[in-house]
Amino acid sequence: MSIEIRPPLAEGRRFSETVSACFGGVSTEEDAEHRTKVLPMERALAAFDGGEMVGATGAFEFDVTIPGGQIPAGGVTMTGVLPSHRRQGILSAMMEQQLVDIHAWGEPVAILWASEGAIYGRYGYGLAIPEISIELERDRAGFKRPVEPSGRVRLMGRKDAAKVMSEIYDRARVEIPGMLTRSTDWWEAHTFAEHDESKEPPVFYALLELDDRAAAYAAYKVHSDWNLDGMAVGWLEVIEEVSTSPEAVAQIWRFLLGIDLIQTIKAMHLPLDHPIQHLLAESRRLRMGVKDAVWLRIIDVEAAFARRSYASADSLVLEVEDGLCPWNSGRWELDTSGDNALIQRTDADADLKIAPDDLGSVYLGGNTFGALLRSGSIHELKTGAAWRADGMFRTERMPWCPEIF
Ligand SMILES: CC(C)(COP(=O)(O)OP(=O)(O)OC[C@H]1O[C@@H](n2cnc3c(N)ncnc32)[C@H](O)[C@@H]1OP(=O)(O)O)[C@@H](O)C(=O)NCCC(=O)NCCS
Repeated sequence: MSIEIRPPLAEGRRFSETVSACFGGVSTEEDAEHRTKVLPMERALAAFDGGEMVGATGAFEFDVTIPGGQIPAGGVTMTGVLPSHRRQGILSAMMEQQLVDIHAWGEPVAILWASEGAIYGRYGYGLAIPEISIELERDRAGFKRPVEPSGRVRLMGRKDAAKVMSEIYDRARVEIPGMLTRSTDWWEAHTFAEHDESKEPPVFYALLELDDRAAAYAAYKVHSDWNLDGMAVGWLEVIEEVSTSPEAVAQIWRFLLGIDLIQTIKAMHLPLDHPIQHLLAESRRLRMGVKDAVWLRIIDVEAAFARRSYASADSLVLEVEDGLCPWNSGRWELDTSGDNALIQRTDADADLKIAPDDLGSVYLGGNTFGALLRSGSIHELKTGAAWRADGMFRTERMPWCPEIF
């Protein structure tokens, strides 16, 4: 079998059909329209077996917030191989081509959400953003300290909400590693499209204003239900909540937890350090689940590490062996003693030996070198190097990516 891998330039609709088929579904006109609006086919790859399209992948063009700034990132998405062609190396062939393409586009990192955790490590992606989900009984949702009402909450239709949500989102985004730029097209063709307003129940958009300034929003759905005794046992699905200050986050959750006729509140994608854990009197009642959100691949060690900020002035020599992105292989000296970090090739002895996936895991501050060391995943060539590295890579906030792409 000979498989050709190339961008499906004039075949956006067929690309969308292949993507849906890989996930066991059918692509509607609307799916194809949304997908091609946010993913130009020059940034897609398809695998062809003769005339048949049998595999697909793509890379959105994002900027991702990193400690100290933001950098371009390839957002890998719509990846799949038809069931008839699996386990024959087609995904590997597409992934390898895509790494080369993202490097050529000058994007220092690639990021993705994995359908299964075991797939992407082999291509050098490491788990960079863990996240929590919560499931809370409303009658156990009391605050530890009273949260007195302040500001005002307005319920808005999607049209009016869109502008103010994007303004709040952008203020939060620059502070939180892992958050992604959202273009106007992205809000329409991805974020709001995913809220799926065609399906019941409807999505509500709650905007919080503090001192007459937009300060937080929550997109949520009320799943109403009543038991045979006539009691409300519905649940509230918090789709996305973004807040710009400690007061804002307390107020928006005060609003969400106060919605009547709700028994349970669920939120799927919260950052590991979400304040709700410290706002409630009984954090155990949050019934938290922890799982992997975003995986990150360092495409270009030099560009990625030079652009990041560091928490301590130090110097570290990292030894990297990268079979799929050979331009990353070698020993790199990272010097964070000046105003801007310097990273350059060196012949000096290495402090740490680290694989590409582990390098991706620590980049945004969502994992520590210490934890990787204790798991036997990375190797200290000089004692104490992992501890020093953690001092340098420490971040103020845990990374977060509020939506699946
Ligand atoms: C996941 C998927 C894309 C893999 O495609 P594929 O062409 O069969 O993958 P390959 O043959 O290139 O496999 C490459 C390697 O990954 C492994 N692998 C493939 N799918 C895997 C999975 N779901 N879980 C764990 N390992 C997997 C293979 O065993 C192989 O391992 P090896 O290199 O050690 O031999 C395909 O099964 C699929 O489309 N699944 C449904 C949609 C999906 O989950 N897409 C991913 C979205 S993030």
